[in-house]
Amino acid sequence: PLLHPPTHQALVVRSLLNTTAEERKKILEDVEYNIFAFPAGLVACDYLSDSGTSAMTDLQWGDESYGRNWGYYCLLETCRDVFERGNDRLYAAHGIVTGVADGEFYRSKLLKPYEGGFVNGGPHQLEKPNFFIVPQGRCAEFLLFSTLKDVIAEQQQEEPQKPRVIISNGFFDTTGANAAAAGFALETFTQPGLTDPFPEELIGKQNPFKGNLDVAATEAYLNEHTEVCMILMTITNNWAAAQPVSMGNIRAAAELSKRKSIPFFFDACRFAENAWFIREFEPGYSNKTIPEIVQEMFTYVDGFTISLKKDGLSNMGGILSIKDKSLFAQRYEGIGLRLKERQILFYGNDSYGGMSGRDMMASVVGLYEVTKEPYLRNRINQVRSFAQKLQASGVSVLSPPGGHAVYLDMDDFFHGCDRYPGDFPALGFTLELLKDYGIRAAEAGPFGWEWDKKPPKLQALIPNLVRFAVPRHVLSDQHISYTVAAIKELHNRRHSIPNVEITRGKNSRLRHFSAGMKPV
Ligand code: F0G
Repeated sequence: PLLHPPTHQALVVRSLLNTTAEERKKILEDVEYNIFAFPAGLVACDYLSDSGTSAMTDLQWGDESYGRNWGYYCLLETCRDVFERGNDRLYAAHGIVTGVADGEFYRSKLLKPYEGGFVNGGPHQLEKPNFFIVPQGRCAEFLLFSTLKDVIAEQQQEEPQKPRVIISNGFFDTTGANAAAAGFALETFTQPGLTDPFPEELIGKQNPFKGNLDVAATEAYLNEHTEVCMILMTITNNWAAAQPVSMGNIRAAAELSKRKSIPFFFDACRFAENAWFIREFEPGYSNKTIPEIVQEMFTYVDGFTISLKKDGLSNMGGILSIKDKSLFAQRYEGIGLRLKERQILFYGNDSYGGMSGRDMMASVVGLYEVTKEPYLRNRINQVRSFAQKLQASGVSVLSPPGGHAVYLDMDDFFHGCDRYPGDFPALGFTLELLKDYGIRAAEAGPFGWEWDKKPPKLQALIPNLVRFAVPRHVLSDQHISYTVAAIKELHNRRHSIPNVEITRGKNSRLRHFSAGMKPV
């Protein structure tokens, strides 16, 4: 086997507190068994989210200044490089930063207008803004959907107004909730077969791209319905167990969108991890660089939202960006100024939009770093080896493993225990794991996807999973071995794991953040 050397070393470390199962039990009672409410400082291994939890490089801890700061110019230029030009200059971020410092950047870039693409009009962004900085991904979603709703309502002639539909390969929870809150109807067409078994010996050799959009089902729907206003593709597909989407699928979705004149967007949170899978597994891409693959991916879309807390390798930040010459920009002419007005109203002036200068600099460096092959190889391999260790110890995971997380197959975990989805046994597992071992992972099954509120047809589509999202650059083999051993112990005594009852907040939107629960 090939040996790959480490790509990073830890610069700052945090001591972990040793708490006892008794202490954690007490706190779990206090927080009504809601793992999101459990204090992070008392968790030994935290797999709750890979979002905003990456460790940052020293370069990212950069500049802090107010109003049109370096970070703003750097971020604009970085997004042009990463999402439009496929630039893989080794020290591109460094070059931009030093270029700003010595004035070269202002002379060579700032004075020339930039034509077209996701970041037009130079840094001034006054006349036709198409690039919006926001605090995080869900703010980009809110900005897009709430503004689009208003613009569509103004353009619609008929009374009463028909709800518009957004189609996706898988909406993340905040994405779906923001679209629904703005009055859109949602249709999810994920390629069938998410939980189909995958041969162990083919892991790392082949990939079925289980995150794909079901293009045939989408087309059939479009043939019957005229009110679809957007196809939104999530890369990688967080709803579908962090599974990647192939370039072929992106291309097919783009062709369909074009044929039917429907704007096509990415939810691009994990664009680099998705590009890695394309490079590793899709014929024709093994000789391309990650920046080239990213560049191609983004040629197909009208616009994108992104949370920089994932593949931006930043602790905070988000972007909404729309191609200047896209179908979307033409159809909703003037939407840029409306978006900017709302951005300023809710988040901050256009050059920071609620992000601090440090967050912007962090994203600048992060967006380059994240497309480096050694980094991505280690990242994807860590998740893969975590999954393989679990599998080897007799605990089933969804296979092949996706980009940012390992998903336990809870139907298989509880085999022989006769559990009912509405009793939320997988939640009980997460509570035991946190109480007894200080390990936090999130249920991504009947509770999270609101099985109890869905009709039987949709219930059948909800997989029974627990997600271990792996933070970037953070965990060592020791963390992973400890976690695998703990899960194995719990698996051995799975008969004694309690079910869970929702005691409060059953019907609130995104209830996993706020509900109260009780093991029973
Ligand atoms: N889209 C996807 C695919 C996401 O995974 C997330 C966040 C968002 C949008 C929203 O971004 O958190 O910056 O507002 N996912 C995190 C997770 C929270 O744990 O998977 P945000």
